[in-house]
Amino acid sequence: MTDVVKIYLKKDISSINTFLKTNTNSFSPLVKEITQHILLSGGKRVRPLLTLLCARIQGKTKDSIPLACSLEMIHAASLLHDDILDDSNMRRKNPTAHTIFGNNATILAGDALLARASRIAAEYNNAYIVKLFASAVEDTASGAIDEMYHTGDAELTEKEYYEIIIGKTAKLFEFSCRMGACCENAPIEIEDALGNFGLNIGIAFQLVDDSLDYASSSEDTGKPIGGDLREGKMTLPLILYLQTREKSERKAIKKAFTEKNLSAQMQEEIIYNITHADFTQTTRNTAKQYIEKATQNLNSIADCKEKEILLQIAQYVIARIN
Ligand code: IPE
Ligand code: IPE
Ligand code: MG
Ligand code: MG
Repeated sequence: MTDVVKIYLKKDISSINTFLKTNTNSFSPLVKEITQHILLSGGKRVRPLLTLLCARIQGKTKDSIPLACSLEMIHAASLLHDDILDDSNMRRKNPTAHTIFGNNATILAGDALLARASRIAAEYNNAYIVKLFASAVEDTASGAIDEMYHTGDAELTEKEYYEIIIGKTAKLFEFSCRMGACCENAPIEIEDALGNFGLNIGIAFQLVDDSLDYASSSEDTGKPIGGDLREGKMTLPLILYLQTREKSERKAIKKAFTEKNLSAQMQEEIIYNITHADFTQTTRNTAKQYIEKATQNLNSIADCKEKEILLQIAQYVIARIN
Protein backbone atom coordinates (compact mmCIF):
# COMPACT_ATOMS: atom_id res chain seq x y z
CA MET A 1 0.00 0.00 0.00
CA THR A 2 1.30 3.53 -0.63
CA ASP A 3 2.50 5.53 2.37
CA VAL A 4 -0.31 8.08 2.05
CA VAL A 5 -2.92 5.32 2.17
CA LYS A 6 -1.15 3.56 5.04
CA ILE A 7 -0.92 6.74 7.10
CA TYR A 8 -4.55 7.69 6.46
CA LEU A 9 -5.75 4.18 7.34
CA LYS A 10 -3.25 3.45 10.13
CA LYS A 11 -5.87 3.39 12.89
CA ASP A 12 -8.20 1.24 10.78
CA ILE A 13 -5.47 -1.28 9.96
CA SER A 14 -4.74 -1.54 13.65
CA SER A 15 -8.47 -2.01 14.47
CA ILE A 16 -8.72 -4.71 11.80
CA ASN A 17 -5.72 -6.55 13.23
CA THR A 18 -7.07 -6.33 16.78
CA PHE A 19 -10.52 -7.55 15.76
CA LEU A 20 -9.11 -10.51 13.81
CA LYS A 21 -6.93 -11.56 16.72
CA THR A 22 -9.58 -11.14 19.40
CA ASN A 23 -12.29 -12.79 17.37
CA THR A 24 -10.26 -15.87 16.44
CA ASN A 25 -9.07 -16.30 20.05
CA SER A 26 -12.37 -18.02 20.82
CA PHE A 27 -11.82 -20.87 18.31
CA SER A 28 -10.80 -24.28 19.62
CA PRO A 29 -6.99 -24.55 19.96
CA LEU A 30 -6.08 -26.03 16.57
CA VAL A 31 -8.55 -23.91 14.60
CA LYS A 32 -7.25 -20.86 16.44
CA GLU A 33 -3.65 -21.73 15.63
CA ILE A 34 -4.33 -22.34 11.94
CA THR A 35 -6.59 -19.33 11.41
CA GLN A 36 -4.21 -17.01 13.25
CA HIS A 37 -1.32 -18.44 11.27
CA ILE A 38 -2.89 -17.07 8.12
CA LEU A 39 -4.75 -14.03 9.50
CA LEU A 40 -1.92 -12.55 11.54
CA SER A 41 1.00 -13.04 9.17
CA GLY A 42 1.00 -9.66 7.42
CA GLY A 43 -1.58 -9.56 4.64
CA LYS A 44 -2.06 -6.25 2.86
CA ARG A 45 -5.70 -5.97 4.05
CA VAL A 46 -6.85 -4.57 0.71
CA ARG A 47 -10.36 -6.06 0.83
CA PRO A 48 -11.38 -4.95 4.35
CA LEU A 49 -10.00 -1.47 3.71
CA LEU A 50 -12.19 -1.25 0.62
CA THR A 51 -15.19 -2.20 2.76
CA LEU A 52 -14.43 0.50 5.34
CA LEU A 53 -13.91 3.20 2.73
CA CYS A 54 -17.07 2.28 0.81
CA ALA A 55 -19.09 2.33 4.02
CA ARG A 56 -17.74 5.73 5.03
CA ILE A 57 -18.35 7.29 1.64
CA GLN A 58 -21.99 6.93 2.48
CA GLY A 59 -22.08 7.63 6.21
CA LYS A 60 -20.56 6.77 9.53
CA THR A 61 -23.48 5.49 11.54
CA LYS A 62 -22.29 1.89 11.98
CA ASP A 63 -19.12 0.15 13.08
CA SER A 64 -17.97 -1.38 9.79
CA ILE A 65 -14.80 -2.99 11.23
CA PRO A 66 -16.42 -6.42 11.94
CA LEU A 67 -17.99 -6.49 8.48
CA ALA A 68 -14.67 -5.54 6.88
CA CYS A 69 -12.98 -8.33 8.86
CA SER A 70 -15.56 -10.87 7.68
CA LEU A 71 -14.31 -10.16 4.13
CA GLU A 72 -10.69 -10.60 5.18
CA MET A 73 -11.75 -13.91 6.71
CA ILE A 74 -13.25 -15.11 3.42
CA HIS A 75 -9.99 -14.10 1.76
CA ALA A 76 -7.89 -15.91 4.39
CA ALA A 77 -10.00 -19.08 4.13
CA SER A 78 -9.63 -19.03 0.36
CA LEU A 79 -5.84 -18.75 0.78
CA LEU A 80 -5.75 -21.73 3.18
CA HIS A 81 -7.59 -23.78 0.59
CA ASP A 82 -5.76 -22.29 -2.42
CA ASP A 83 -2.32 -23.17 -1.09
CA ILE A 84 -3.41 -26.80 -0.80
CA LEU A 85 -4.84 -26.79 -4.32
CA ASP A 86 -1.71 -25.09 -5.68
CA ASP A 87 0.63 -27.28 -3.62
CA SER A 88 2.36 -24.10 -2.53
CA ASN A 89 4.73 -24.13 0.42
CA MET A 90 5.29 -20.42 1.08
CA ARG A 91 3.06 -17.40 1.67
CA ARG A 92 4.08 -14.02 3.08
CA LYS A 93 7.55 -15.54 3.48
CA ASN A 94 6.13 -18.10 5.95
CA PRO A 95 5.55 -21.81 5.47
CA THR A 96 1.94 -22.36 4.36
CA ALA A 97 -0.55 -23.70 6.91
CA HIS A 98 -1.01 -27.13 5.34
CA THR A 99 2.75 -27.79 5.38
CA ILE A 100 2.63 -27.30 9.16
CA PHE A 101 -0.80 -28.57 10.18
CA GLY A 102 -1.63 -30.97 7.34
CA ASN A 103 -4.27 -30.76 4.61
CA ASN A 104 -7.24 -32.09 6.53
CA ALA A 105 -6.97 -29.74 9.50
CA THR A 106 -6.27 -26.80 7.21
CA ILE A 107 -9.31 -27.47 5.04
CA LEU A 108 -11.57 -27.69 8.09
CA ALA A 109 -10.05 -24.60 9.71
CA GLY A 110 -10.83 -22.74 6.48
CA ASP A 111 -14.43 -23.93 6.73
CA ALA A 112 -14.67 -22.85 10.37
CA LEU A 113 -13.34 -19.43 9.38
CA LEU A 114 -15.95 -19.08 6.64
CA ALA A 115 -18.69 -20.00 9.11
CA ARG A 116 -17.38 -17.49 11.66
CA ALA A 117 -17.23 -14.81 8.99
CA SER A 118 -20.83 -15.45 7.99
CA ARG A 119 -21.90 -15.16 11.63
CA ILE A 120 -20.18 -11.79 11.90
CA ALA A 121 -21.89 -10.57 8.73
CA ALA A 122 -25.26 -11.87 9.98
CA GLU A 123 -24.92 -9.84 13.17
CA TYR A 124 -25.68 -6.69 11.15
CA ASN A 125 -29.29 -7.97 11.00
CA ASN A 126 -29.47 -7.06 7.33
CA ALA A 127 -30.60 -9.93 5.08
CA TYR A 128 -29.20 -8.18 1.99
CA ILE A 129 -25.71 -8.15 3.53
CA VAL A 130 -26.02 -11.88 4.26
CA LYS A 131 -27.10 -12.51 0.67
CA LEU A 132 -24.11 -10.60 -0.69
CA PHE A 133 -21.81 -12.45 1.72
CA ALA A 134 -23.11 -15.81 0.50
CA SER A 135 -22.59 -14.77 -3.13
CA ALA A 136 -19.01 -13.75 -2.35
CA VAL A 137 -18.23 -17.19 -0.91
CA GLU A 138 -20.04 -19.00 -3.71
CA ASP A 139 -18.36 -17.04 -6.51
CA THR A 140 -14.90 -17.40 -5.00
CA ALA A 141 -15.25 -21.17 -4.63
CA SER A 142 -16.81 -21.56 -8.09
CA GLY A 143 -14.00 -19.55 -9.66
CA ALA A 144 -11.41 -21.75 -7.97
CA ILE A 145 -13.16 -24.88 -9.26
CA ASP A 146 -13.38 -23.46 -12.80
CA GLU A 147 -9.67 -22.76 -12.66
CA MET A 148 -8.94 -26.28 -11.44
CA TYR A 149 -11.05 -27.73 -14.22
CA HIS A 150 -9.00 -25.86 -16.82
CA THR A 151 -5.60 -26.71 -15.35
CA GLY A 152 -3.20 -27.52 -18.16
CA ASP A 153 -5.72 -26.50 -20.82
CA ALA A 154 -3.31 -24.95 -23.31
CA GLU A 155 -6.27 -23.94 -25.51
CA LEU A 156 -7.90 -21.78 -22.82
CA THR A 157 -9.14 -18.53 -24.36
CA GLU A 158 -8.69 -15.06 -22.91
CA LYS A 159 -12.44 -14.87 -22.44
CA GLU A 160 -12.43 -18.06 -20.35
CA TYR A 161 -9.45 -16.77 -18.37
CA TYR A 162 -11.31 -13.58 -17.47
CA GLU A 163 -14.35 -15.59 -16.36
CA ILE A 164 -12.07 -17.55 -14.03
CA ILE A 165 -10.32 -14.56 -12.45
CA ILE A 166 -13.57 -12.65 -12.08
CA GLY A 167 -14.95 -15.60 -10.10
CA LYS A 168 -11.96 -16.51 -8.00
CA THR A 169 -10.72 -13.00 -7.19
CA ALA A 170 -12.61 -10.00 -8.58
CA LYS A 171 -16.03 -10.87 -7.18
CA LEU A 172 -14.67 -10.77 -3.63
CA PHE A 173 -13.35 -7.27 -4.35
CA GLU A 174 -16.74 -6.31 -5.78
CA PHE A 175 -18.59 -7.65 -2.74
CA SER A 176 -16.11 -6.02 -0.35
CA CYS A 177 -17.16 -2.68 -1.83
CA ARG A 178 -20.87 -3.49 -2.15
CA MET A 179 -21.16 -4.74 1.41
CA GLY A 180 -19.45 -1.61 2.73
CA ALA A 181 -21.98 0.51 0.82
CA CYS A 182 -24.90 -1.62 2.11
CA CYS A 183 -23.71 -1.34 5.67
CA GLU A 184 -24.61 2.36 5.46
CA ASN A 185 -27.73 1.75 3.33
CA ALA A 186 -26.32 3.36 0.21
CA PRO A 187 -28.77 3.87 -2.69
CA ILE A 188 -28.43 1.17 -5.34
CA GLU A 189 -26.73 3.53 -7.85
CA ILE A 190 -23.94 4.20 -5.34
CA GLU A 191 -23.68 0.52 -4.41
CA ASP A 192 -23.42 -0.39 -8.11
CA ALA A 193 -20.80 2.28 -8.82
CA LEU A 194 -18.67 1.06 -5.89
CA GLY A 195 -19.30 -2.59 -6.79
CA ASN A 196 -18.15 -2.04 -10.37
CA PHE A 197 -15.11 -0.18 -9.08
CA GLY A 198 -14.29 -3.21 -6.90
CA LEU A 199 -14.83 -5.65 -9.74
CA ASN A 200 -12.46 -3.78 -12.05
CA ILE A 201 -9.72 -3.35 -9.49
CA GLY A 202 -10.15 -7.03 -8.59
CA ILE A 203 -9.54 -8.05 -12.21
CA ALA A 204 -6.49 -5.77 -12.34
CA PHE A 205 -5.28 -7.18 -9.01
CA GLN A 206 -5.26 -10.76 -10.32
CA LEU A 207 -3.68 -9.71 -13.64
CA VAL A 208 -0.82 -8.10 -11.73
CA ASP A 209 -0.55 -11.17 -9.48
CA ASP A 210 -0.29 -13.36 -12.57
CA SER A 211 2.34 -11.08 -14.07
CA LEU A 212 4.36 -11.12 -10.81
CA ASP A 213 4.31 -14.92 -10.78
CA TYR A 214 6.58 -14.82 -13.86
CA ALA A 215 8.41 -11.54 -13.43
CA SER A 216 9.09 -11.11 -9.74
CA SER A 217 11.12 -12.78 -7.01
CA SER A 218 10.05 -14.66 -3.89
CA GLU A 219 11.92 -12.03 -1.92
CA ASP A 220 9.38 -9.46 -3.12
CA THR A 221 6.17 -11.48 -3.25
CA GLY A 222 6.80 -13.82 -0.29
CA LYS A 223 5.40 -16.62 -2.48
CA PRO A 224 7.13 -19.25 -4.64
CA ILE A 225 7.80 -17.86 -8.11
CA GLY A 226 6.94 -19.72 -11.30
CA GLY A 227 4.35 -21.76 -9.43
CA ASP A 228 1.60 -21.00 -11.95
CA LEU A 229 3.52 -22.62 -14.79
CA ARG A 230 4.62 -25.56 -12.65
CA GLU A 231 0.98 -26.20 -11.71
CA GLY A 232 -0.28 -25.82 -15.28
CA LYS A 233 -2.24 -22.69 -14.37
CA MET A 234 -3.35 -20.91 -17.52
CA THR A 235 -2.78 -17.23 -16.78
CA LEU A 236 -2.61 -14.30 -19.20
CA PRO A 237 1.21 -14.19 -19.68
CA LEU A 238 1.15 -17.87 -20.69
CA ILE A 239 -2.00 -17.55 -22.80
CA LEU A 240 -0.47 -14.63 -24.75
CA TYR A 241 2.72 -16.62 -25.26
CA LEU A 242 0.87 -19.74 -26.44
CA GLN A 243 -1.07 -17.63 -28.94
CA THR A 244 2.25 -16.97 -30.70
CA ARG A 245 3.13 -20.67 -30.93
CA GLU A 246 2.14 -23.41 -33.38
CA LYS A 247 -0.79 -25.65 -32.51
CA SER A 248 1.62 -28.61 -32.33
CA GLU A 249 3.61 -26.87 -29.58
CA ARG A 250 0.45 -26.06 -27.65
CA LYS A 251 -0.48 -29.74 -27.90
CA ALA A 252 2.92 -30.81 -26.60
CA ILE A 253 2.67 -28.42 -23.66
CA LYS A 254 -0.85 -29.58 -22.90
CA LYS A 255 0.34 -33.20 -22.93
CA ALA A 256 3.21 -32.34 -20.59
CA PHE A 257 0.78 -30.56 -18.24
CA THR A 258 -1.65 -33.48 -18.29
CA GLU A 259 1.08 -36.01 -17.62
CA LYS A 260 2.61 -33.66 -15.06
CA ASN A 261 6.02 -33.92 -16.65
CA LEU A 262 6.78 -30.46 -17.96
CA SER A 263 10.57 -30.72 -17.94
CA ALA A 264 12.74 -28.19 -16.14
CA GLN A 265 14.19 -27.24 -19.52
CA MET A 266 10.75 -26.64 -21.01
CA GLN A 267 9.77 -24.55 -18.00
CA GLU A 268 12.90 -22.44 -18.24
CA GLU A 269 12.37 -21.91 -21.94
CA ILE A 270 8.76 -20.83 -21.50
CA ILE A 271 9.62 -18.46 -18.64
CA TYR A 272 12.49 -17.00 -20.67
CA ASN A 273 10.26 -16.46 -23.70
CA ILE A 274 7.41 -14.98 -21.67
CA THR A 275 9.59 -12.46 -19.85
CA HIS A 276 11.68 -11.57 -22.91
CA ALA A 277 8.68 -11.03 -25.15
CA ASP A 278 7.32 -8.81 -22.34
CA PHE A 279 4.07 -10.70 -21.94
CA THR A 280 4.37 -9.88 -18.24
CA GLN A 281 4.41 -6.17 -19.07
CA THR A 282 1.55 -6.61 -21.55
CA THR A 283 -0.40 -8.22 -18.71
CA ARG A 284 0.32 -5.27 -16.42
CA ASN A 285 -0.71 -2.87 -19.20
CA THR A 286 -3.98 -4.76 -19.51
CA ALA A 287 -4.42 -4.33 -15.74
CA LYS A 288 -3.98 -0.61 -16.30
CA GLN A 289 -7.00 -0.58 -18.60
CA TYR A 290 -9.12 -2.11 -15.85
CA ILE A 291 -7.85 0.51 -13.40
CA GLU A 292 -8.94 3.21 -15.86
CA LYS A 293 -12.40 1.65 -15.94
CA ALA A 294 -12.43 1.48 -12.14
CA THR A 295 -11.52 5.15 -11.94
CA GLN A 296 -14.41 6.02 -14.25
CA ASN A 297 -16.76 3.95 -12.10
CA LEU A 298 -16.26 6.52 -9.35
CA ASN A 299 -17.24 9.51 -11.53
CA SER A 300 -20.72 9.54 -10.08
CA ILE A 301 -19.44 9.62 -6.50
CA ALA A 302 -19.07 13.08 -4.94
CA ASP A 303 -15.50 14.10 -4.14
CA CYS A 304 -14.41 13.29 -0.58
CA LYS A 305 -11.37 11.97 1.27
CA GLU A 306 -12.59 8.34 1.06
CA LYS A 307 -12.95 8.59 -2.72
CA GLU A 308 -9.46 10.04 -2.98
CA ILE A 309 -8.04 7.10 -1.00
CA LEU A 310 -10.01 4.57 -3.11
CA LEU A 311 -8.44 6.11 -6.22
CA GLN A 312 -5.01 5.83 -4.63
CA ILE A 313 -5.63 2.16 -3.86
CA ALA A 314 -6.56 1.68 -7.53
CA GLN A 315 -3.23 3.19 -8.58
CA TYR A 316 -1.40 1.05 -6.03
CA VAL A 317 -2.94 -2.11 -7.52
CA ILE A 318 -1.15 -1.63 -10.83
CA ALA A 319 2.09 -0.39 -9.31
CA ARG A 320 2.42 -3.07 -6.66
CA ILE A 321 5.39 -5.40 -6.52
CA ASN A 322 4.15 -7.72 -3.78
C1 IPE B 1 -3.52 -13.05 -2.86
O1 IPE B 1 -4.15 -11.91 -2.41
C2 IPE B 1 -4.49 -13.86 -3.66
C3 IPE B 1 -4.92 -13.22 -4.91
C4 IPE B 1 -6.16 -12.97 -5.16
C5 IPE B 1 -3.95 -12.89 -5.91
P1 IPE B 1 -3.37 -10.72 -1.68
O2 IPE B 1 -2.20 -10.31 -2.51
O3 IPE B 1 -4.35 -9.67 -1.32
O4 IPE B 1 -2.82 -11.42 -0.37
P2 IPE B 1 -2.35 -10.78 1.00
O5 IPE B 1 -3.51 -10.97 1.93
O6 IPE B 1 -2.00 -9.36 0.84
O7 IPE B 1 -1.18 -11.63 1.39
C1 IPE C 1 -5.77 -16.43 -6.22
O1 IPE C 1 -4.98 -16.96 -7.16
C2 IPE C 1 -6.50 -17.51 -5.50
C3 IPE C 1 -7.55 -17.08 -4.61
C4 IPE C 1 -8.54 -16.35 -4.98
C5 IPE C 1 -7.49 -17.56 -3.24
P1 IPE C 1 -3.47 -17.37 -6.95
O2 IPE C 1 -3.35 -18.83 -6.72
O3 IPE C 1 -2.70 -16.77 -8.05
O4 IPE C 1 -3.08 -16.64 -5.59
P2 IPE C 1 -1.63 -16.74 -4.96
O5 IPE C 1 -0.65 -16.34 -6.01
O6 IPE C 1 -1.46 -18.15 -4.51
O7 IPE C 1 -1.67 -15.75 -3.82
MG1 MG D 1 -2.18 -19.87 -5.28
MG1 MG E 1 -0.75 -16.02 -7.93
